[in-house]
Amino acid sequence: MSAATLHVAFDRRGYDIHIGAGLLHRAGSLIAPVIRQKRTVIVTDAHVARLHLAALIASLDGAGIAYHEIVLPPGEPTKDFAHFAKLCVDILTLGIERGTSLIALGGGVVGDLAGFAAATLLRGIDYVQVPTTLLAQVDSAVGGKTAIDTPQGKNLVGAFHQPVLVLADTATLATLPDRELRAGYAEIVKYGVIKDAEFFAWLETHGTELLAGDIAARDHAVRRSLEIKARVVVADERESGERQILNYGHSFGHALEAETGFGAALLHGEAVALGMCLAGDLAARLGHWPAREAARLKRVLAGAGLPTTLAALPEAARQPARLLAHMKRDKKVKDGRVTLILPRRIGEVFVTTDVAAETLRDFLAAADTAAATLIL
Ligand code: NAD
Ligand code: GLY
Repeated sequence: MSAATLHVAFDRRGYDIHIGAGLLHRAGSLIAPVIRQKRTVIVTDAHVARLHLAALIASLDGAGIAYHEIVLPPGEPTKDFAHFAKLCVDILTLGIERGTSLIALGGGVVGDLAGFAAATLLRGIDYVQVPTTLLAQVDSAVGGKTAIDTPQGKNLVGAFHQPVLVLADTATLATLPDRELRAGYAEIVKYGVIKDAEFFAWLETHGTELLAGDIAARDHAVRRSLEIKARVVVADERESGERQILNYGHSFGHALEAETGFGAALLHGEAVALGMCLAGDLAARLGHWPAREAARLKRVLAGAGLPTTLAALPEAARQPARLLAHMKRDKKVKDGRVTLILPRRIGEVFVTTDVAAETLRDFLAAADTAAATLIL
């Protein structure tokens, strides 16, 4: 088994990320040194519990760590106030102390929800991220963003709370449904566009191998993505500057998720894929990058079976005025202006609040045809 270790180099709250196949079987010995009490609460969802909980438990047993298990319903609707409240009450009922930790075993939904519980229970306890989706391994498990959704929008209630350890066991991806794997791939492509042209070019060549299950390709992509993410979040933990670039595709994407009901109709990674294409088309229309670069982006995403045009959605979910209303409620709005991340070239993006609401509405109204013509 080959594993890589990265370090997220915060001054006092730095932590390791272990990446590799089979890490779940070593979880107990990796977790034991970083938790304060040999007692933990595993938070997971029903799908992941069925497939991967036994391996984690066996490993905790082997390391002499006592545990409780809480199994949540799978899916984005679980990331709401009601499930958050129940989770906190269930954990408190177990009689935890400040030294008790949580382990989030699952995708971004479990990670965000358990992370937010860890941020708030007893004013903050430690937690370990054990991500089991590609999206969580390359993105959500690292960086300390925790949150729940509200009817007003995604992730509007939450906290920054860094984990004490991340264990990305890439072997768990073998059980992940293909559509979920592809959704996670969108976030990998994001790293290429925002920071690393060479990585993007590598994905153009090797992306299909990765999606077909090539282990070396997958592990390389997870590792490179996390290197980029770790560097960006250490430079700007609270997203006052550079971290904003990690939201490339998300202002459009979150609006599309809200319009499609935060669920199976459009997965988070699919919304990000479509959002990246819309941001790319807008950037091309405004003259910030050439249309051929927008076409490259679309080719990579379409090749992974991801949506690249608004036409992929039902008409009711792509009404410009409604999408714009969601975008105006985004956390990143500044003085009423939508913050957008737009590409300048593959490997470089910039943050802007200069795009007027009317421009955005007109763009969204015309986006179906624009998107279609840009796939060359
Ligand atoms: P998810 O957690 O809903 O997982 C997707 C599905 O895969 C679920 O049905 C889950 O039960 C199942 N699953 C998980 N691992 C599996 C495995 N190994 N085998 C089989 N099935 C498995 O979705 P996600 O895409 O992982 O995460 C999306 C969430 O992450 C969104 O809420 C998004 O807002 C959030 N997110 C957070 C951050 C952050 O920085 N905190 C970043 C990106 C996304
Ligand atoms: N996924 C965006 C961030 O972590 O900042």
